[in-house]
Amino acid sequence: MLEQQGPQLWTYAEPLEFCTVELGRIMTVIRLSSGELFVQSPAELTPELKAAFDDLGEVRFVAPASKLHGHLYMEQYRAAYPDVELLAAPGLAARRTDLQFDHVLGGTPDPRWGTDIDQVVVAGHRWLTEVAFFHRPSRTLILGDIGFHIGDDSPLRTRLIARALRVRNQLGPPVELRLTIANEATFRRSIRAILAWEFDRVIPGHGEIIDTNGRQALLEGYDWLF
Ligand SMILES: [Fe+2]
Repeated sequence: MLEQQGPQLWTYAEPLEFCTVELGRIMTVIRLSSGELFVQSPAELTPELKAAFDDLGEVRFVAPASKLHGHLYMEQYRAAYPDVELLAAPGLAARRTDLQFDHVLGGTPDPRWGTDIDQVVVAGHRWLTEVAFFHRPSRTLILGDIGFHIGDDSPLRTRLIARALRVRNQLGPPVELRLTIANEATFRRSIRAILAWEFDRVIPGHGEIIDTNGRQALLEGYDWLF
């Protein structure tokens, strides 16, 4: 059920209905140089998914994309893997008081995953503080809500709404996220830091994966910011 996208990199597309629109979401799984697994935006831990993880290695780190995106089901990972470390995006610990987080993600990766993964905190938004990840071995950028990319595989209704939100065949945040940026200079600096990575593939939080020329796609999707 996990789809290999690149060296040491897998994804799983999970159905997600948001306000009656079938949006879908993507979980990313990275096998670190240590052999342990780093899971971003975890999917529901079904027996099938657990078996798929078992084939790859031990789940060690579980990360959300932001305080809004990718933290559901973390409690299932805590229960299933005694040594797992749950990572919080800034602000998430206050929302998920039922969970004990091991780290709050900042702008510098922990050395235990820093060889393989770099990270940037996207700041300057009113309520979305996202953590973007860069998987070096596969040159992949991994996003949450600052990277929607709704393509032709989505249902018609989803495509129509995506067009209105300006994320139809375009990589970026839906328009309401654009309109609620608190500090544009800070937000722009964060996106520039992401663009400094030499990524080719992009895994969006919602929508379709961009296999190649992802950096160009991000530049085009964020042309309104520059
Ligand atoms: Fe999301």
